[in-house]
Amino acid sequence: MFVMKAGVVGAGTMGAEIAQAISFAELPVVLVDVSEEALARGRARIEAIYQRRVEKGRMTPSQAGDRVSLIQFGQDPALLADCDLVIEAVPEKLELKQALIERLDGVVSPLCVLGSNTSALSITAMAQASRHPERVVGLHFFFPASVMRLVEVVRGEATSAETVETAVSFVADIRKIPVRVKECPGFVVNRVLMAAMAEVLRYQEQSGASFAEVDGAVLAAGLVPMGPFGLADQLGLEIVHEVQATLAAAYGDRFAGGEAVAERVATGALGVKSGRGFYDYSGGGAGDGR
Ligand SMILES: NC(=O)c1ccc[n+]([C@@H]2O[C@H](COP(=O)([O-])OP(=O)(O)OC[C@H]3O[C@@H](n4cnc5c(N)ncnc54)[C@H](O)[C@@H]3O)[C@@H](O)[C@H]2O)c1
Repeated sequence: MFVMKAGVVGAGTMGAEIAQAISFAELPVVLVDVSEEALARGRARIEAIYQRRVEKGRMTPSQAGDRVSLIQFGQDPALLADCDLVIEAVPEKLELKQALIERLDGVVSPLCVLGSNTSALSITAMAQASRHPERVVGLHFFFPASVMRLVEVVRGEATSAETVETAVSFVADIRKIPVRVKECPGFVVNRVLMAAMAEVLRYQEQSGASFAEVDGAVLAAGLVPMGPFGLADQLGLEIVHEVQATLAAAYGDRFAGGEAVAERVATGALGVKSGRGFYDYSGGGAGDGR
């Protein structure tokens, strides 16, 4: 099925950027969030991405304006009624995602594909909330979704071959690279990333090195654009925490991340989005990593 109009639910770190990526490919997209404030922040994030392209001379202001106008922002899920594919990007909680899928079932057509941007949760479990489990598929974008081209397309036990094909061609249509992966906790990328992250957290705890020292050493190796603690702050520590818990429950303690993440989440230090995580962003930049 060709996707003529897409929807994204959740206008946070990922949802706003996914909507931007869809609009960039000149497809109309509806971005829905329960929070008016989140919608305003999402819009600002999207406009800033286009503004940077304009400043770099990659787009004219009028082209950027045309792309932004392809995005409809709103709080009412009914706005998604005529979408051919809807991607959920709400927080990483199975019950929340299941409740949303049940709600979407009553809004969209039975043929509409429901994609989940979950980092590590079971697509099969999520699909059980739908009267049409065959249309539920994992569509896992990576941060920052406006830049990163890889998208994991995850087939749950009930996902139909047609749904997978629609998801794969949609990802290609928005100029990203679809990779079909088998369903397992963490899929492929997060299973690898979180194993490395757990090792780094253990090393930092045992060595007493500062977060900045560890990030500096990883950066100096020249393999990645960002150190692990800086990256975790960008992703959102509550997301990292949820994914660690899912993977530790599935694969054991080698995925458990020590106390550093849990302690920060408990105090509301979620990373860049809250102004403090491993680093302090209150002054607009990174602190000393302590
Ligand atoms: N943060 C990352 O780097 C990253 C990367 C890949 C995948 N993911 C996954 O993407 C999903 C979203 O993560 P995020 O970091 O963007 O979260 P976020 O907390 O930044 O954004 C979630 C948004 O969902 C909204 N929301 C909550 N309940 C809703 C509902 N019922 N209907 C509509 N909107 C609702 C919230 O208001 C919020 O704006 C998670 O499943 C996460 O695991 C995150």
